[in-house]
Amino acid sequence: HWVMSDFIQHEIQRIRKLVGPKAQVIGAVSGGVDSTVAARLMTEAIGDRFHAVLVDNGVMRLNECQQVKETLEKHLGINLTVIDGADLFLSRLKGLTEPEAKRKVIGSTFIDLFEEEAIRIEKAAENTPNAGKVEYFLQGTLYPDVIESLSFKGPSATIKTHHNVGGLPARMMNGQGLKLIEPLRELFKDEVREFGRQLGIHEDLVMRHPFPGPGIAIRIIGEVTPERVAIARKADHIFISMIREAGIYNEMSQAYAGLDTNRAVGVMGDARVYGYIIILRAVTTTNFMTAEPYEFKFDLLKKIARRIVNEVDGVARVTYDITSKPPGTIELE
Ligand code: XMP
Repeated sequence: HWVMSDFIQHEIQRIRKLVGPKAQVIGAVSGGVDSTVAARLMTEAIGDRFHAVLVDNGVMRLNECQQVKETLEKHLGINLTVIDGADLFLSRLKGLTEPEAKRKVIGSTFIDLFEEEAIRIEKAAENTPNAGKVEYFLQGTLYPDVIESLSFKGPSATIKTHHNVGGLPARMMNGQGLKLIEPLRELFKDEVREFGRQLGIHEDLVMRHPFPGPGIAIRIIGEVTPERVAIARKADHIFISMIREAGIYNEMSQAYAGLDTNRAVGVMGDARVYGYIIILRAVTTTNFMTAEPYEFKFDLLKKIARRIVNEVDGVARVTYDITSKPPGTIELE
């Protein structure tokens, strides 16, 4: 473990030296702790010569894009561009039901939009007297990501496409000759969190659960339609709010409300309805390779279910996924 304040100063100096007085850096942010800490660190080191890009992929959580923008721009002073890709992503996801196909479309659409933005930033840089070329690409890679991608060479490489490490920079690097900058690659998650606190990042963000790049698209089984996204979002918002209100958010590692492909019958007032099935999932884990279902108080779980059925139109049932990993995974797809 590093002594944090020394590490921060050391990193800032190292980044300044590496990037030099003029070069610019771009990086994608998601609102998660890793990319936010990396972006805040870059801002501390080189100010507005660092350009953060947030791509709204249409499968972020309720109001998330707006909240991330507010936090990063206003509170953390990060030079941020938000790209509204929601319609494009959702149109490309139309008709896709295979988990890997969904991941691939989201990954490649992300790269398309990100590259477009990188080119725009480079063009703008050419017209700015004191700024040099965009030479670096920032990634918030942690030590466990490095290890995982090294061990991903076996058959497991095809199980899931993680675009945190690998796919994105490969295309960026080769296409535009950008050099990779990874200030967190020697740190573990708890160190990044401590790092974030020292950089003045709010505790809620520091302790935020990880959220996958493909967002709620891998929590909605089967086709991702705008209607199904809206339902999953509303249910998820209720679930997470009630977890926060109960003061148990930090007791679990990840939690979400997903959506099944099938529908089921329920009764609403006097009528029988045919509605969606929500799948709640909450797990505890230390390394994300194995996980256990979180043991809710049953009373709270029933309250959550009642609120979701009452408040989210179209939902007839709520289930709680009690599968461990393995054999289950944390996400539904
Ligand atoms: P699974 O579902 O494989 O998830 O048990 C393990 C951890 O990885 C995250 N995850 C992803 N993150 N892109 C990401 O950026 C992905 O395609 C992806 N798939 C899973 C998941 O949220 C959990 O933290």
